[in-house]
Amino acid sequence: MRFVDIIEKKKQKKSLSKEEIKIWIQGLVEGSIPDYQSSALLMAIVLNGMTQEETTNLAEAMVLSGEQIDLSNISGVKVDKHSTGGVGDKTTLVLGPLVASCGLKVAKMSGRGLGHTGGTLDKLESIPGFDCFLTTENFVRQVEKIGIALVGQTADLVPADKKLYALRDVTATVESIPLIASSIMSKKLAFGSDTILLDVKFGEGAFMKTIEEGKELASSMIKIGKSLGRDTRAILTEMDQPLGNTIGNALEVIEAIETLQGKGPEDFTELCIASAELILLQGKIVSTKEEAREMLWKKIDSGEAFEKFCEVVREQKGDVQALHDISLFPQAKNRTELKSQKTGYVVKIHSQNLGFLSMEIGAGREKKEDDINPAVGLKLHKKYGDFVEVGESLCAIYHDNPLEENWKTRLLESFEIQEGKPKKKNMIEAIIE
Ligand code: URA
Repeated sequence: MRFVDIIEKKKQKKSLSKEEIKIWIQGLVEGSIPDYQSSALLMAIVLNGMTQEETTNLAEAMVLSGEQIDLSNISGVKVDKHSTGGVGDKTTLVLGPLVASCGLKVAKMSGRGLGHTGGTLDKLESIPGFDCFLTTENFVRQVEKIGIALVGQTADLVPADKKLYALRDVTATVESIPLIASSIMSKKLAFGSDTILLDVKFGEGAFMKTIEEGKELASSMIKIGKSLGRDTRAILTEMDQPLGNTIGNALEVIEAIETLQGKGPEDFTELCIASAELILLQGKIVSTKEEAREMLWKKIDSGEAFEKFCEVVREQKGDVQALHDISLFPQAKNRTELKSQKTGYVVKIHSQNLGFLSMEIGAGREKKEDDINPAVGLKLHKKYGDFVEVGESLCAIYHDNPLEENWKTRLLESFEIQEGKPKKKNMIEAIIE
C-alpha cells in the first residue's frame, strides 16, 4: 500500500486500520515516510478526528516504537500520575512522597518546562546538587529501596512521540484530542506502572479550553489505559488561576515542602489530597476515600511524608539541608511588590500571562536550549475571591534584573479586580473513573 492512500483515506473521513497505523509509526521512526507525508496525515487527523479504536491503536503503535521500562521486578503496586500541565503545578513534588510514604511505589519520569508551563525536572534541579538522571538500573533499584524515584525522560522512550510532537508543533496540529491522548498515554504506557492517575486541566492556559473538551480528553485517555490493562482514572481541574501561590522553580519547591508539612496553600493542598486519595484507592491499600484521607493526613502530620521527600533528595544527591533551611536555595537578587491600583475582589488571574511573564524574567525557557534561573518567579498574595485595597500587594516578584515598565503593566493587568465578591468555585470539577 502506498502511504499516500492512507492519507487519502483519512482525508475521506474513513477509519485507519491497526495495520495502517503501525505502518505509519514504523515508517515515521525509521525515516522511510517523509515528514511532509506525516504532516499531511496529522492535519487530516486534526480535521477529521479518529475513532477511539484508532486512538488506542495509535497509542499502542507509539509505545512499540521504542524502549519500554520493565518495573515488574519491583515489589508492590507501582503508581504513576500525569498532569496535562498548568502554571504553578508542583503536584508531583508533593503527591509522589506522600503516596510513597503510604507504601505505594512511585516510579516517576517527568519533563522540563517549555513556554508558559513549568516542568518538574527544572523544579527539582533548583535543589542544590539534585540529580534527575539515573540509569534505568539505578532508577529501578531506588524505587525498590525507598519507594520512589523522580527522574527525567530517557531518550529511547517513545521516539515516535518525539518526532510527531516536533512536527505537530510547526504544522498547527497540536490541538487534537486523539493526538494529545495518544501522545500522553504512549509515554505513560511505555513506563510499566500498574496504575495511572491523570490530572486533566481545562480553562484558560490549558490545552482544553472547556470542561466538555477536558472530559472528552480524559475519557479517551482512560479508555486507552484500560484497554491496555492499566487502572486509569482522571481528575478534572479548572485552571483559571495558578495552582498554589508560587510560580518559579525554587519558590515552588519551597511551597511543596510547606505542603508536605501541612502548611501549604488551601487549593494546592486540596488537589494533592484528592489526587492522593484516588491513587491510594487505585493501589488498593484503602477501600474508601475517607480511609485514604485519614491515612494521608497522618503521614503529613507525623512528618513521614516530608521525610520521604528528604529521602528522595538524599538518594539523588541533593542537599537535604536545604529542605530544612530554605535560605540554602538559590536566592533572587531583588524582591519587588506589585501594588494594586484598585480596591475590590480578585475575580480572575490570567495564569497563562503569569506563566509567560515569569518565563520572561528567567523562570522558564522560550526555546529548548535556553537556560533558566531557579531563583526567580512570583509569589501571589491575593487569589480568586480575595479582597484587595489600593496599595496592597497583589504579589511579590523575585527577580535578578531590573523590571521593565511594560512588564509590570502586563503583570498588573493579569489580575482582574471588581467590586462584587465572586461566587466560590470548586477547582476539582469532576472525577472520572
Ligand atoms: N502533552 C503531551 O505529552 N502531548 C501532547 O500532545 C500534549 C501535551
